[in-house]
Amino acid sequence: MSNLTSSPAWQALTEHFKEVEPLHMRDLFQNDPHRFEKFSLETGGLFFDYSKNRITEKTMQLLFELARQSGVKERIEKMFSGEKINITEKRAVLHTALRNLDHNPIVVDGEDVMPKVNAVKEQIGDFSDKVRSGEWQGYTGKPITDIVNIGIGGSDLGPLMVCQSLKEYGHARLSMHFVSTVDGDQIVSTLKKLNPETTLFIIASKTFTTQETITNARTARAWFVKAAGDEKHIAKHFVAVSTNSKAVAEFGIDTKNMFEFWDWVGGRYSLWSAIGLPIAIYLGKHNYQDLLHGAYTMDQHFRGKPLEQNVPVIMAMLGIWYGNFFGANTQLVSPYNQCMSRFPAYLQQLDMESNGKTVDLDGNRVDYATGPVVWGDAGINGQHAYYQMLHQGTQIVPIDFIATIEHPDIPEPHSTILMANFFAQTEAFMRGKNEAEVRAELEKSGITGQAQDDLVPHKIFKGNRPTNTIIMQRLTPRRLGALIALYEHKIFVQGTVWNINSYDQWGVELGKQLAKLIESDLTTPGLTTSHDASTNGLINYFKRNTPR
Ligand code: F6P
Repeated sequence: MSNLTSSPAWQALTEHFKEVEPLHMRDLFQNDPHRFEKFSLETGGLFFDYSKNRITEKTMQLLFELARQSGVKERIEKMFSGEKINITEKRAVLHTALRNLDHNPIVVDGEDVMPKVNAVKEQIGDFSDKVRSGEWQGYTGKPITDIVNIGIGGSDLGPLMVCQSLKEYGHARLSMHFVSTVDGDQIVSTLKKLNPETTLFIIASKTFTTQETITNARTARAWFVKAAGDEKHIAKHFVAVSTNSKAVAEFGIDTKNMFEFWDWVGGRYSLWSAIGLPIAIYLGKHNYQDLLHGAYTMDQHFRGKPLEQNVPVIMAMLGIWYGNFFGANTQLVSPYNQCMSRFPAYLQQLDMESNGKTVDLDGNRVDYATGPVVWGDAGINGQHAYYQMLHQGTQIVPIDFIATIEHPDIPEPHSTILMANFFAQTEAFMRGKNEAEVRAELEKSGITGQAQDDLVPHKIFKGNRPTNTIIMQRLTPRRLGALIALYEHKIFVQGTVWNINSYDQWGVELGKQLAKLIESDLTTPGLTTSHDASTNGLINYFKRNTPR
């Protein structure tokens, strides 16, 4: 048994689970008129209700005890102060420094990182002002109308999600495009719509070696040079965001047009760095600053509040309760706001690349579940697709419901209907529908006797399905910043309890290495025989059928 599963706090939760598992939330609500007040709180403009969970006050005490035993508070300090908690890459984990509005020094390898953080922020602000005002012009003297961010993973999902979520704050002249995949369709169809005279490409890659990004960037560069007729115009139309100035220069982008960040910013935590350049251009530097401010507010909350009032800690421990004790394998995120439809995809990388690990910090294989499958889409469409399984299927799927109260410029009755569905779903997941209720309903519609008996089992909803609800007044840059930071910290706490490194991603490497080998197989004539039978067979099938 691992140190974790044999620990007193874990053992206490294992025992306690036997008491809680048979309880129904309906009864818990009935027996405690203050349950909602007890299990809800507000921070950073986010109202968080976790009363519709399979918990009692004792559950929460035991979960906090587990967090305490795991040294969550101490490790928070290590992260914020720049200790190298990413032990496999020997790096600090300092996305919080990028929104450190206190400007207090944060020292890494003997150097305060804040001056360079602030210098790049200034550079981003100046550049975004120039593009937005039209002062930055293309090679024929026209203002920029289209921004194409070429990047993948953390160099794509964050800026894409934020620009889409906050599109009501976007600059009217600017259209944002995000190209990530290498299948060619995205870049080709994007370029078709663009005028090279008024297009700005942002090549966003922490490493500047990512094959997908560099391939797309080369295609964009060739398209542009062909239209502009001279490589000297590249300077006005290509900028880079990276930690690798050498590779940026080799690609042909003047490092004057490069926005730097550093190895202590993880890819999936990088939207607060220069990777957020498209956000600053599209929303303006003040809104970008507000986004950082929202995250900063959540950082303060996370660092300062006791575990019992700490929203990221509560969310994390609830996730552990379901994943490790109830056996839930997945976590659904359901935003009831179409603008946030890419939020689950963003969280997918954030969570799954962070906590998808099987060895602990000492390299021992864990004997407990770690990160769940995170999935989801804009909520209301899900009701007509996968919610059936969530209501009546055999698996327990905890759900985060997220909604905004104000939907500017949307005529009624849209918002009211949307929110009615939002509340109805969390109620339905909690209450379910019992046999007496089903029979009464059937009776009322004239279905009696055997016909009623036959239908009853199909119409029963067990309910007792856990949900968190996050509501905010209106989706603003600040609130979105707070929401993203909330999830970042949730993931941190879970990684701490599971004693894993949430900040490396070696699992992505194997596929990258094999792809390089196979790329050369695909272009070498003749039979490929160097892989297993299936991979050889598939490669050879592909080669035989590729039109030459
Ligand atoms: O998917 C692996 C990964 O390394 C992510 O962590 C990262 O966000 C993405 O690739 C892109 O990497 P880069 O910014 O270096 O191009």
